[in-house]
Parts: sequence; C-alpha cells; structure tokens
Amino acid sequence: MGKVCIIGAGSSGIAACQVLHARGIEFDCFEKGSGVGGNWRYENDNGMSSAYRSLFINTSRQMMAYATYPMPEDYPDYPHHTQIARYFDDYVDHFGFRGHIRFNTEVSAVVPEEGGRWRVTLAEGETNLYDAIMVANGHHWNPKWPEPPFPGQDRFAGVQIHAHHYREPDERFTDKNVLVLGIGNSASDIAVETSRVSTMTYLAMRRGAHVLPKYIAGTPTDQLGPKFLSHLPLGVTRALFMRELKHVQGPMENYGLPKPDHKLGEAHPTISADLLARIGHGRITPKPNIARIGPDRVHFTDGTSTEIDTIVWCTGYRITFPFLEPEVMEAAGNRVPLFRRVVHPDAPGLYFIGLVQPLGAIMPIAELQAEWVADLFEGSAALPEPDAMKQEIEREEAAMRKRYVASTRHTIQVDYYPYMRLLGKERKRREGVKVALPADAPSARVPVRAA
Ligand SMILES: Cc1cc2nc3c(=O)[nH]c(=O)nc-3n(C[C@H](O)[C@H](O)[C@H](O)COP(=O)(O)OP(=O)(O)OC[C@H]3O[C@@H](n4cnc5c(N)ncnc54)[C@H](O)[C@@H]3O)c2cc1C
Ligand SMILES: NC(=O)c1ccc[n+]([C@@H]2O[C@H](COP(=O)([O-])OP(=O)(O)OC[C@H]3O[C@@H](n4cnc5c(N)ncnc54)[C@H](OP(=O)(O)O)[C@@H]3O)[C@@H](O)[C@H]2O)c1
Repeated sequence: MGKVCIIGAGSSGIAACQVLHARGIEFDCFEKGSGVGGNWRYENDNGMSSAYRSLFINTSRQMMAYATYPMPEDYPDYPHHTQIARYFDDYVDHFGFRGHIRFNTEVSAVVPEEGGRWRVTLAEGETNLYDAIMVANGHHWNPKWPEPPFPGQDRFAGVQIHAHHYREPDERFTDKNVLVLGIGNSASDIAVETSRVSTMTYLAMRRGAHVLPKYIAGTPTDQLGPKFLSHLPLGVTRALFMRELKHVQGPMENYGLPKPDHKLGEAHPTISADLLARIGHGRITPKPNIARIGPDRVHFTDGTSTEIDTIVWCTGYRITFPFLEPEVMEAAGNRVPLFRRVVHPDAPGLYFIGLVQPLGAIMPIAELQAEWVADLFEGSAALPEPDAMKQEIEREEAAMRKRYVASTRHTIQVDYYPYMRLLGKERKRREGVKVALPADAPSARVPVRAA
C-alpha cells in the first residue's frame, strides 16, 4: 500500500497516527515542535500554542478522551493543561508510534503532482512524494485581530495583546484598568483571571452569550445531553437545557450582561464557573462594543467611556494552511468547504483531521474521522461523486448559516453525536468512488532532494 503524510502531532495528528499505525498503513508524521500535544503544550517551542498558565479544559475529560484510551480515573472532571499534555504523551507511548513522528520539522509546501500523488516539502528543503495527506495543523493558533480595526486603535498608547499571546496576569494587568473584548471562552477566562489583580476589568462585547456553568446538578454540563437526547429536535433539547439554566443562574441581564440576540445552541458555547460570580463581586464590569479608542481612553457604543491601560483582544482565530496554495484551499473568512468536514471534493488524497468546532470535544471526533479516512485508504468505504459531495457541502453550510449567528467563528460547527453518527454512516458507504491507496509504490518512499 502507498504511504501517507500526516501534518502536525497535536491531539488530531496523533489520533490519525494511532489509527494508521493500528491498521498497518505506512505514514510519516511531521511536527514543527519538539513534542506532541500542539495547543496543550504550554509555551510549546512551535510558537503556536494559545494555552495560558491557568488553562483548564472546558469539555469534561469523559467527553474529551479518545475512544481507544480513557483519561486516568484519578484525573478531575476538568483537568489542567499539564495533565492534558501528559495524557497525549502517554497515548503516543501506549500505542508505540512515536518513532513515526519527525519532530522539529515544519512542512512548508504540499503540492499536487501529476498521477495523483502529493509532493511534500519540508522547511529544511527535503521533499518526498506521498499518496495521501492528512492535514492536522490546528485552527486555534493564528490570531484574528479586530477587522477592520476600531477607529483610533493604532493610536492607543497602552498595551494591546491578542488572547493567543496571553500567559498570566503579569505587571501589564496588575493595578491597571484592563479591557477584554469578546465573549468567547478566551474572553471569559482572561477577564476572570485579570480581575483578580486589576484595578477593574471591563468586558466588552458586540453581542451577549448564554454563559453555561461547568456543572448542573453536580454533573459536568456537557454530560447532561446524553446520546438519546441528541436524537430529539434541537428545539426540545434547548427547552430542557433552558429550564435547567433558569434554576441554576437565571437570565444574563440579571448580571448586567446584554440579553443574547440568539437562542441557546446558535453560538459556540461560552462555559465558565466564575464569570458571573466575578461580575457579581464587582470585579468585572460588562460593557457593550467599542465605538472608538483614544490614546488612553476607550469609548463604548452606549456613549460611556473609561480610561484603559491594557486591551486584550479575544477576537478569535483565523483558519490557515500556509503550506497549501490558495487554489487548493484558501479558507477565506474561515470557510473550509469539505465533505463531512474532512474530504476535499476537488483534491483527491487531501484530508483534514480535527478541523471542526464541536458542541463537544474535538479529540474523539478526530479519532473517528481518521478511522473513516483509513477505511477509504483500505477501500472498504467509498465517497460520493465530487459533484454530489459539493452539493452536500452546500446543503450543510446553508444549514449552519441558518442556525448559527453570522460570524467567522461559526464556519466549522458540528453537533457531537449527530456528527459522529454521520461519520458512522459514511464508513458504511460501499457504492461510489473508491480512493484506496495504491498497491505497493516504492518510488513514494524514496526521498527526493530539493533542486
Ligand atoms: C485556549 C484554548 C482552550 C481550548 N480548550 C478546549 C477544550 O477544553 N476542549 C476541546 O475539545 N477543545 C479545546 N480547544 C480547541 C483546540 O483546538 C483543541 O483542544 C486541540 O488543540 C486541537 O488539536 P489539533 O491537533 O487539531 O491542533 P493543535 O493542538 O493546534 O496542534 C496542531 C499541531 O500541528 C503542528 N503544525 C502546524 N503546522 C505545521 C506544519 N506546517 N508542519 C508541521 N507541523 C505543523 C503544530 O506544531 C501543532 O503541534 C481549545 C483551544 C484553545 C485556544
Ligand atoms: N477553557 C477552555 O477550554 C477554553 C478557553 C479559551 C478558548 N477555548 C476555545 O478556543 C476556541 C477559540 O475561543 P476564543 O474565545 O479565543 O474565540 P471565539 O470563540 O472565536 O470568540 C471570539 C469572540 O470575539 C468576538 N469578536 C470577534 N471579532 C470582533 C470584533 N471585530 N468586534 C467585536 N467582537 C469581536 C466574537 O463575537 P461574534 O460572536 O459576534 O463574532 C466572539 O465573542 C474556542 O473553541 C473555545 O471554546 C477554550
């Protein structure tokens, strides 16, 4: 059988490695950093991790673990990033594929060749041919600053950083007026943390959010929607959740937050055990969106203004593939038109793993995506014709646009259980286009030196 190239050894890349290793499919995995775990390696020497010192997961460990490798029983429900990074290291050693990962090795170009193969060029200059590519380069490492910038943003005399660069509440936050923009999970965590040292932390947002607690009735919130509930229409599960939330915390307006302009489940969830309490303690002051910025003062859309020393832009991330030509995949506006969020309909042999934003955790999804792709490699599953894939992509994207708040953060959303069932169905598709790896192709394994 031919050979596969996996780009990245974060939690998605190692899931792909594990699956191919177990099936005896040949592969090389290239990892820019010196270890596995991607985002979960604090201060990762790949320079791409967005983890801060105090980061804890917000999807419970039971939901986040790979199906093939549970997290240790003595881990808490929401472990610290150090425990998560250790889990990924243990996973690699348990299944014994570390030797297939080439560390400190960046993939700089991936180009389709005549005959269906892909030429992979490494930053150090070496090139190799592969029969298929599994892209697992992550989608939370390239910071997206406000676009367009706010009027006056370039003349602000204080400190400005993006959440990607935030590590701990250092002297830039201590005894300062801090402004955090956004109401995603970065904004919520960073506002809570800086509020412990700042004079005041202001939390500005252009729309409200349904902030979810980490527990409801003593159960991790993401375990309250068990499998059978996911068969019910969204409206029914939403009503059940809203009833619980009404008892636990009541409406957002009671905390001075704006009333969300959307229903629960129409935006990526913001999960925090602390945010509402910190507002209640008077340490975080909610604000509407920024109108303009002066050298030392920020003006908000409600006409109020306040002196600010430090701004943290928690405005999300850009999906990018620096090693792919734009004509292969551009991801303009974070749009990645892929069949079932994995298969490029016009570039046979190019697959994307973990490129989803689930209501649930990414890791078990990446694992099942890899199982499906391995089925395709082995010829036990088939794909629809490219035109049929494109139609389905259009249909799914239209449904996503209809359901979710219009935002570049909602371009790769999936619901955990329905999406997993869909992948299960794809694994059983026998009729259609077979894209199995070619039988033994020795030339694929001969490294070609760059001219
Ligand atoms: C602060 C924060 C908290 C989060 N919390 C959660 C959570 O609680 N639960 C959850 O499910 N998700 C969470 N996420 C989402 C996060 O994307 C996933 O947890 C996870 O990191 C995705 O893994 P990945 O392997 O796809 O990407 P990454 O972890 O980003 O790993 C990508 C890997 O690819 C490598 N790479 C990239 N480009 C190249 C290249 N050209 N050549 C070679 N190697 C390359 C990188 O070095 C890196 O190791 C969080 C995200 C952030 C930013
Ligand atoms: N503890 C944890 O586990 C944890 C912590 C942090 C992050 N994460 C994860 O990391 C991922 C990224 O989260 P994130 O919070 O960094 O980004 P995000 O989810 O994309 O949120 C970005 C926020 O910024 C707002 N925004 C963007 N551009 C803006 C602009 N120009 N003006 C005003 N507001 C703007 C967005 O508003 P709109 O909705 O209106 O676009 C949204 O509120 C998510 O998957 C998240 O769950 C997890």
